[in-house]
Amino acid sequence: MTIALGVLVSGSGSNLQAIMDRVGDGSLDAEIRIVIANKPDALGLERARQAGVPTACVLHADFPAREDFDRELVRLLRAAKVEVVALAGFMRILTPAFLTPFAGRVVNIHPALLPACPGLSAQKQQALHGVRLAGCTVHFVDEEMDHGPIIIQAAVPAYADDDEATLGARILEMEHRIYPQALQWIAQDRVRVAGRQVVVRGASRTMGALWANPPLERPFDS
Ligand code: GRF
Repeated sequence: MTIALGVLVSGSGSNLQAIMDRVGDGSLDAEIRIVIANKPDALGLERARQAGVPTACVLHADFPAREDFDRELVRLLRAAKVEVVALAGFMRILTPAFLTPFAGRVVNIHPALLPACPGLSAQKQQALHGVRLAGCTVHFVDEEMDHGPIIIQAAVPAYADDDEATLGARILEMEHRIYPQALQWIAQDRVRVAGRQVVVRGASRTMGALWANPPLERPFDS
């Protein structure tokens, strides 16, 4: 099955690029119907244009209320016949005016192992906190920020001399791998949600889970 995807961006759009690249090489069965930004200078818009993907820019300052902005997004996505919406660095909180029409069909990527470090500057939060395992999460979007059911997470090591930039780059590399994977599972209709639990048919939940930084020492790793 090929899913009709809409991608919402605010910034650099490197996750959008990763998604477009995987569509391009045939490993993600999706058609990107539209890329929408809320900032005219979002590099993500330029990346989409370069790839020949239709774009739109919607400025929240042009709308009296959050809900009006959200309704305009819905209108554009529906007009483009979008089934699944991927938030890729989209820096706006969405209201029920958006989430109700697309219930269960909006996904987001967050640069931390949720529920740790939700919100802004997650990479900085993790670096400053001295975590040993940082990472990223793809999850369904609900009305609370960075909160909905988790589809996939990836962990990366965090080192004592990491800062926001070095740790952020390590996390971003994994973001570019797990986001297209999560979308492909959705395209293959393998994803089911029951409460907070997401089950991906045929995907192991535990493989690779015993991974610690620093590595465990004997007898714990035997
Ligand atoms: C990523 O770190 C993503 O996890 C967060 O915003 C950033 C967007 O980066 N939500 P990009 O625009 O995809 O390069």
